[in-house]
Order: sequence, then C-alpha cells, then structure tokens
Amino acid sequence: MTTLSTLNKFKKDGTKFTCLTCYDSMFARMMDKAQIDTILIGDSLGMVVQGHDSTLPVTVDDMAYHTANIARSNKHALILADLPFMSYVTLPEAVTNSRRLMQAGAHVIKVEGGSELCELVTTLAQAGTPTCVHLGLTPQLVNVFGGYKIQGRGDEAADKLLADAKAVVAAGAALLVLECVPAELAKVVTEAVAVPVIGIGAGADTDGQVLVMHDMLGMVHGRVPRFVHDFLTDERNTERSIEGAFTLYQQSVREGSFPTEQHQFS
Ligand code: KIV
Repeated sequence: MTTLSTLNKFKKDGTKFTCLTCYDSMFARMMDKAQIDTILIGDSLGMVVQGHDSTLPVTVDDMAYHTANIARSNKHALILADLPFMSYVTLPEAVTNSRRLMQAGAHVIKVEGGSELCELVTTLAQAGTPTCVHLGLTPQLVNVFGGYKIQGRGDEAADKLLADAKAVVAAGAALLVLECVPAELAKVVTEAVAVPVIGIGAGADTDGQVLVMHDMLGMVHGRVPRFVHDFLTDERNTERSIEGAFTLYQQSVREGSFPTEQHQFS
C-alpha cells in the first residue's frame, strides 16, 4: 500500500510516481491491478461524470460518495480527495468537510490556492489530516482567471507561485499539485520544496504525474489538452484494454517516457 512515506522515499530516490483521477469502483479495481501509486477523487467529476461546464457545482456530498466508492475498491493507492468549491472558506467548514472525506476513506485532502491557505493547512495537519495544495491553474478559480489559462508565466507570476509553494509547505502541506505551468518553473518548485510535487501539464521534472482518467483513455469532450496522451489506443497497449492503458501509463511515468516535451508548456 502506498503511503506518504512511500512518496517521500520516491522523491528522495528520484523514482517517478503516478496519479490518476478516479470516481467509481470498477476503474478503481483496475487501477489497483495496474499498481497506480495514487488516486485523486477530483472535483473534475463535475465535468466528466456530471456533465457540468466547470467544477463549481460539485458538492461535499458528491465528493464523499465517490471517495467511498474508491476506498472500498482500491487498497494499493494513496487516496486524495478534493474539497470542492466554497467548502473551505472558513476554518470550521474546512474541518467539518475534511472529516467527511477522511471518514469516507481519503488519506489526503486536496485544496486549491496559495499562501492564503496556510492557516487551514496547519490546522488540518495538527488535526491529523494531511493536505495536498493545488497551485497554478486551479479550476475552482476559473471565473477569476477568465478561463483555463497557463499560469506562472513571467517573472512576477513565477516568483509568486514559488513563494506560495514554499509558504504552504512551511505551513505543513504534505504534497503539491502543479497544473499548467511552464516546465522550467515546475522544475524550480519541485527542487525548492521537500515534499513530493505532482504535475499535470507541468513537464517531466515534477516528482509525480497526474491525468484525468477519461482524458488518458481518449474520452475527451472538445479540445484535447496539450498535456494529454491517449494510452488506450497507444500501439504499446497491444490488447487495447483499459487495464493495459493504466499499466502503460504507470510504466511510462516510471521509466520517464511520459510526459515528453510535446506535452509541456514554456
Ligand atoms: O479535479 C481534478 O481532476 C484535478 C486534477 C486535474 C489535478 O484537480
């Protein structure tokens, strides 16, 4: 079973690790067989499962339901669950909602933001709840960003992102996710912090990689993001099976053949 200690050891040894989003039991079982290291019950379920245009309509009830489905069906992965939009505005709300997700089977709670989350991160850490802080393109802020845009470009934005990463780690964050930031900046952040960093559209130098499961199985509604690779139809997945796609993703990340330059931003 993968734990935070496993991921910390991976970072120390330079072993790249995998994360996939997952929302239901059968896929969670397949990910168990493929030995995917970590699973994220992402609020992306609002888009890929529920058909919304953003992650904003997702509720804590939704997250608890899907987290419980995964926890019953996968014993290998470290399980991360998202606190959804506006469910952690105040500390008491954050504590109550984190407890729901931890009791549903999460091992780590993921929140989106920067240094403004420090007090929350410390409070949860002291209460026995590890946090993963998601930086860069944070989809819950889509209305603030005015769309899904690359973040951290330019010196000022890059310095802020690095400062945010250092601040939340000093406050007690156990993991970071970096989404859609220039690969060079992701490398700097990954080397600057002691905790494992998981990237999506952040280049090959983060400690781990995450993809939305539907994307890496070629089920994309609209434009395919640059950082996505379809592992289902990849010719190395000779059986063209879903389990084969998960195994190929696991192997590709471990050996460093995914992601490549074509999947990253500058
Ligand atoms: O909700 C989600 O799927 C995520 C990943 C894109 C990292 O936050």
